[in-house]
Amino acid sequence: MSGFSAAWLAMRERYDRAARNAAVLDAVAGAFASASAVTVTDLGCGTGATMRAIASRLPAHQRWRLVDNDNFLLDAARKATPAEASVRTVVFDLAGPIEQALDDCDLVATSALLDLVSAAWLDRLVASLVRLSRPFYAALSYDGAVTLMPDTRHDAVVTAAVNRHQRTDKGFGPALGPEAARTAPARFRDAGFAVLEGRSDWRFGPDDREIQMAIFDGWAGAAREIGVNPSTLEEWLGERRNHVTAGRSHLQVGHIDFFATPIGRR
Ligand SMILES: C[S@@+](CC[C@H](N)C(=O)[O-])C[C@H]1O[C@@H](n2cnc3c(N)ncnc32)[C@H](O)[C@@H]1O
Repeated sequence: MSGFSAAWLAMRERYDRAARNAAVLDAVAGAFASASAVTVTDLGCGTGATMRAIASRLPAHQRWRLVDNDNFLLDAARKATPAEASVRTVVFDLAGPIEQALDDCDLVATSALLDLVSAAWLDRLVASLVRLSRPFYAALSYDGAVTLMPDTRHDAVVTAAVNRHQRTDKGFGPALGPEAARTAPARFRDAGFAVLEGRSDWRFGPDDREIQMAIFDGWAGAAREIGVNPSTLEEWLGERRNHVTAGRSHLQVGHIDFFATPIGRR
């Protein structure tokens, strides 16, 4: 188990899909428009949300190599394969040497992973993709920007603590967390890739009760681990839950998507 439950990934999937940046997705699709077949490696694939989100935009013949260290999530991915795709799942710890996970594909993809990794890991990924000359599609990297409405007294304390928690080690060294959105596209540009990026914010309204409750519970847990006073958190969570229950809660969480192409490849 990786700590990312299939239930949580299922809950967020439709919001992630709605948030994915359309221009970035068009660029990914455009890069393979004249190909009859494509092989994609998805890093930290979870239950295969990226495959389900983009399969209809890629050539009819698709082979997906789904890479994750959580066998339970990979099982779920195998059971939810779209018609276009043939899938091979690979149980693999991405914290180790990654190049063998990347070999032999036309496109490397990921979603909601780059905020978990360290700058050093990102540099290793960029170096590998330079060597292999492969394009990279990365969706839903967190940028640290959170808007809560209506606001409550402890929002700033909690969101600051969540962003500090985001920087803690998630198995890859000190995590990029909210820096991922700025750092990752920049590292690819520095390495000579053409990078198209665009926003992919989550926008939840009053009807999106279940996911807002889950996010606020998760944030309270993260803030507790960082050392925020439990009574502050109890008060904060109570107020936020009341807003959700009353159907007046709005939440926006900042993300970016990008597509990085080795210059000269297209
Ligand atoms: C936030 S989830 C995103 C899952 C999926 N990409 C999505 O968008 O629904 C992060 C994923 O990275 C995987 N992961 C975390 N650390 C990993 C590691 N060291 N090696 C392989 N996969 C890892 C988790 O198991 C999880 O599936």
